[in-house]
Amino acid sequence: MRWLSPLIVLAASCGDEGPSPVFPESWASSYTEVRNCRSSGDHELNKVRVLVDAAALAPYMTRAQPFPVGSVVLKAEYDFADGNCSGPPVGWTVMQKAGTPENLGWVWQKVDAGRGVESENDPQCVQCHTDCGVAPDGYDGTCTVP
Ligand code: HEC
Repeated sequence: MRWLSPLIVLAASCGDEGPSPVFPESWASSYTEVRNCRSSGDHELNKVRVLVDAAALAPYMTRAQPFPVGSVVLKAEYDFADGNCSGPPVGWTVMQKAGTPENLGWVWQKVDAGRGVESENDPQCVQCHTDCGVAPDGYDGTCTVP
């Protein structure tokens, strides 16, 4: 098992850099767009799209069943001048359903363009989504209508 040790060293040094994004690098091809490019009034006036992973698709669209633990709702944010969200994202906000009730039952991340996690479980995310994440605009902590 000698070959394992360089991997362990590598893993340990990566761990020092904090949490990883809860969504994969292949998000653009593996997630489904549920809300197309438009201006956001709430997230720093960027252009935004909302995408979900396979597990979040039915709950997001039908609003009739809970989001399963681990499912992901992703907001890709683009420059406000990027009229059709065709350029590279300037960053993301993302929520992943947690197995515990803290923070409205989600893990919240703000992720920069280089996939660095800028914040995790920022109380501002939780506070604002507590207000907007209920019917008619919200569902289970999400704030958009599909
Ligand atoms: C000022 C209130 C406010 C704050 C603070 C806020 N949000 Fe939101 N968020 C909204 C609203 C309203 C929407 C839906 C409208 C839109 O797209 O802008 C939304 C949409 C989202 C979405 C798309 C899915 C959905 O429908 O909810 C995600 C993901 C998200 N926010 C994550 C976050 C994260 C992570 C943070 C903290 C880093 C955060 N938000 C902070 C108000 C807020």
